[in-house]
Amino acid sequence: TAPPLVDTLQRPLRDLRISVTDRCNFRCVYCMPKEIFGRDFVFMPHDQLLTFEEITTLARIAMAHGVRKIRLTGGEPLLRRGIEDLIGMLAALRTPEGEPPDLAMTTNGSVLAQKAEALKAAGLDRVTVSLDSMDDAVFQAMNDVEYPVAKVLHAIDAAQAAGLGPVKINMVVKRGLNDHSIVDMARHFRGTGNILRFIEYMDVGHSNGWKMDQVVPSAEVIDRINKVFPLEPLEENYRGETARRWRYADGAGEIGAISSVTQAFCRGCTRARLSADGKLFTCLFATAGTDLRALLRGGATDAELADALGALWGARSDRYSELRSASTPGLRRRGEKIEMSYIGG
Ligand code: GTP
Ligand code: 5AD
Ligand code: SF4
Ligand code: SF4
Repeated sequence: TAPPLVDTLQRPLRDLRISVTDRCNFRCVYCMPKEIFGRDFVFMPHDQLLTFEEITTLARIAMAHGVRKIRLTGGEPLLRRGIEDLIGMLAALRTPEGEPPDLAMTTNGSVLAQKAEALKAAGLDRVTVSLDSMDDAVFQAMNDVEYPVAKVLHAIDAAQAAGLGPVKINMVVKRGLNDHSIVDMARHFRGTGNILRFIEYMDVGHSNGWKMDQVVPSAEVIDRINKVFPLEPLEENYRGETARRWRYADGAGEIGAISSVTQAFCRGCTRARLSADGKLFTCLFATAGTDLRALLRGGATDAELADALGALWGARSDRYSELRSASTPGLRRRGEKIEMSYIGG
């Protein structure tokens, strides 16, 4: 058999993050601010999106190259019509060892409650739900579409009840906006069996106007929680995990801290990203992707697609977050970076 595919820094390809739509019904200020993503913003026309068959073909080839985990993202992935069908197709894929993929989704939860059972039945293993505050005024100011906290909490419960847990809850922390909600969020999710994760606000894309002083370092987040609910460090679940894990000393479960700004985790980064229109990106901060849709629609064989993917990953040297911490913010000029709603969270 072929030797495992690794990049120039010896990192294998393990995760494929697939954006199934660039649209979202939220306008989170750190992701799709209204000033940019307003009424006249032009999203991708439907014929440019990869079809479910095309996505499944690429996922199958990626799994032959080492991918074990597939995460559906967006935009908001549950806005893509028929998403359950895609989940069924991906869940039927097998690794060379005959294992199904670990199939996950990152969602804002707005249509999750009504879909949770169908998603589970289709073969989805688990979900991650975004929630930035327990305080309605703050959360609504962040999602900017007046979406209430209670509905997201209901979706998280529905997902857990449907067997899509433990549900991970992602909170992007932005100083001065929601950092006072850190301990409230910890208090709420302690003891629920779900896993709250604090994410450092990143300089992804260019529409959010990122500044370093808006980042709350994870060390500070952990310190604030530890003062109220004592914490102990946990080992990582797998090499290259995004989150550093902590457990409550009283046994009320675990939390995570994702420190892509202050403690970059590029060294173990095994993630490739596929945009909804079929471009493959080897880094969240990549400035250009490779158009796999053109290959697919140009009639490339599976062997040709596999070669293209192998060549792309083999040449990969990305480690943006590590380089950024080594230099000053703004490593890349405005306009060069790709928006997260396009490339996928
Ligand atoms: P698990 O499978 O549960 O380990 O999920 P995950 O942490 O890989 O995925 P999730 O979508 O929950 O990622 C959480 C957040 O971490 C994302 O929304 C990003 O903010 C950040 N993140 C994920 N992957 C990367 C990455 O490769 N680079 C950087 N810089 N940040 C990332
Ligand atoms: N910084 C950090 N995380 C972000 N996300 C979106 N934009 C940013 C950003 N600027 C993450 C949110 C959400 C996921 C889809 O993407 O955590 O859960
Ligand atoms: Fe939508 Fe998620 Fe971006 Fe918020 S963070 S605008 S919910 S894609
Ligand atoms: Fe991976 Fe790029 Fe994120 Fe580093 S910055 S962890 S290389 S996606």
